[in-house]
Amino acid sequence: MLKFVNIRTFVYLLNKQSFYHYFKMNNTSFHNACNNELNTNSFIHSSILNKYENNEKNILHHKKSLLLNEDALNKNIFDEEIFDLIITSPPYNVDIKYNSHHDDLNYEEYLIFSEQWMQNCFRWAKKQCRFCLNIPLDKNKGGQRSVGADLTILAQKVGWKYHSTIIWNEGNISRRTAWGSWLSATAPYVISPVELIVVLYKDEWKKTFGSKISDITKKEFMDWTNGLWTFNGESKKRIGHPAPFPLELPFRCIKLFSYIDDIIFDPFVGSGTTLIAANNTNRYSIGLEIDKKYCGLAKQRIINETKLLF
Ligand SMILES: C[S@@+](CC[C@H](N)C(=O)[O-])C[C@H]1O[C@@H](n2cnc3c(N)ncnc32)[C@H](O)[C@@H]1O
Repeated sequence: MLKFVNIRTFVYLLNKQSFYHYFKMNNTSFHNACNNELNTNSFIHSSILNKYENNEKNILHHKKSLLLNEDALNKNIFDEEIFDLIITSPPYNVDIKYNSHHDDLNYEEYLIFSEQWMQNCFRWAKKQCRFCLNIPLDKNKGGQRSVGADLTILAQKVGWKYHSTIIWNEGNISRRTAWGSWLSATAPYVISPVELIVVLYKDEWKKTFGSKISDITKKEFMDWTNGLWTFNGESKKRIGHPAPFPLELPFRCIKLFSYIDDIIFDPFVGSGTTLIAANNTNRYSIGLEIDKKYCGLAKQRIINETKLLF
């Protein structure tokens, strides 16, 4: 039965809430087998896996994670609305020496790049998809810019709806080097040792689809719904990547904003942190990374750091 249902039809029906009725009419036993969204997401994930079977871009399929060596600007990677939650930290355009990506675009080019990948995410998001966008509040390297405000506006231009902003107070940030005019009002620099996690959604904030199984504890819920999060950044040296975020960041977003068995997406995988957090919280996950070397790093981390669970 499955073979005869085109994935586009399947996801369309799913979004129209007529999925169960369709299968009830067409195949009662399959309807029974799929009578929860757990199997639905498993089906979607398997369809993507099938598409990438024996494809050189498929770097790793491990447990519930799929890592693809793909460009987040390529709008043809998926042709369905797949994701329940997107968590990502894109390049900040602060001249970080990534292997493949040039992190020193002029600001207008950077905004065009940002609009394109956010547009792709929007295209691939389910109606109730949430989007946790980890970006700087601002930057001073290469000229002062209100990056946080500018990308939040851009995301809304693309179609994302604004929900709230979490301030991540990054305890061990090392940006306090440029003082401007030392001990003088001539031209001092103020640097905020924080980053943002802007929380957006596609169509509806209230989640009515999915397994409906939350795994957050009372303490976590109370602590994390306070939008000031304090935990250390990750060490570049320890991870072997120039800009990793700590596991705690995707871990909190996943537990707060998604159900077990939801499909999590990170278009800028880097060292694989989001996929590790997703695997270890029993969610499906798909990630893209343009650089082969970072794909290799992410692959090793995912295998090493998810071996005990599921
Ligand atoms: C800020 S890092 C992400 C770090 C990640 N959160 C982690 O914990 O390791 C951004 C990553 O995006 C990758 N990247 C840059 N441009 C890309 C593109 N167009 N498509 C996919 N990945 C890209 C870079 O190679 C880099 O690894």
